[in-house]
Amino acid sequence: MQGMNSRAEAAMTQTFIPRVFSGIQPSGGLTLGNYLGAMKRFVDMQADGGFETVYCMVDLHAITVWQNPEDLRRNTRELCAGFIAAGIDPEKSILFNQSQVPEHAQLGCCFNCVARMGWMKRMTQWKDKAGKNSENASLGLFGYPALMAADILIYHATHVPVGEDQKQHLELTRDIAVKFNNDFGVDFFPIPEPVIEGSATRVMSLRDGTKKMSKSDPSDMSRLNMTDGAETLVKKIKKAKTDMDPLPDNLEGLDGRPEAQNLVNIYASLNEMTVQAVIGEFSGQQFGAFKPKLADLAVAKLAPISSEMSRLMQDPAEIDRILARGAERGRALAAPILQKTYDIVGMLR
Ligand code: TRP
Repeated sequence: MQGMNSRAEAAMTQTFIPRVFSGIQPSGGLTLGNYLGAMKRFVDMQADGGFETVYCMVDLHAITVWQNPEDLRRNTRELCAGFIAAGIDPEKSILFNQSQVPEHAQLGCCFNCVARMGWMKRMTQWKDKAGKNSENASLGLFGYPALMAADILIYHATHVPVGEDQKQHLELTRDIAVKFNNDFGVDFFPIPEPVIEGSATRVMSLRDGTKKMSKSDPSDMSRLNMTDGAETLVKKIKKAKTDMDPLPDNLEGLDGRPEAQNLVNIYASLNEMTVQAVIGEFSGQQFGAFKPKLADLAVAKLAPISSEMSRLMQDPAEIDRILARGAERGRALAAPILQKTYDIVGMLR
């Protein structure tokens, strides 16, 4: 990737409104990982007060791999319900669906001409997702990171909360912003900062503490879903894999015990306390004693979210109205930035 040069640094010193952008794919199945690793952090940044917050359901990213149209519609609404149930206020934040703000795709088109083939080929997510049969992967999957750059930069966003796995895409976004500014001799796009989650919000499988909790794991017992009711949450936590040892009295005592570490992390994140404090409270106790406490906590925090989601899902028309309003607000920010980009590039008005 390119190094920073003086013009890039100048762009960084330009002042931009502190604005958060992040996106989640509406590809179905929201887990505790989505909640703790993304939504809960988005809610915190909304509450922070120092930022404008813009949150998006990235349906154009979802279709880079096959999506059944009916499922996509349903999953988009469910994701919207999830955002709201988790605490995103569509008045405080701009909450919308990517395809309803066409400026994302339009800026993406320009960025396809800024990004280089070589940059894209180095993306580890491309390599993982395309696998051995990359000739048969969609062109959209290859270009995914350029559209992601457009998502962020169409709002001149300055801060982007993402998981560790998106760090490389954020680097690429910065490279695109730098190259655009350089190529056209402008200080137009900000160089956005990734806001990476701490390891305590990295939620692992309940069946294997070395694997990320995933909606695509064949076993539903491996994950807590945002749509799980109280009974299911309790059952899954009860059955979660652990070891025979009691909880340690210091952090090092969790080393080499991925399942124990994971349950302690989940407790800490859900209860907004440090891992150290959880250990302080439960050291010496067996998992037989800790798990019911964790289950109570999970039910207290997650069951209201799941029931609010199902309430919202009963009125899809209301969800569509919320998204339409969000798209209108998104466009109000995005349209002038696209227009300015077109002017810079040399498109006629
Ligand atoms: N690629 C992100 C993911 O899969 C989703 C995403 C799309 C995104 N556009 C974005 C995240 C812009 C942050 C900013 O998790």
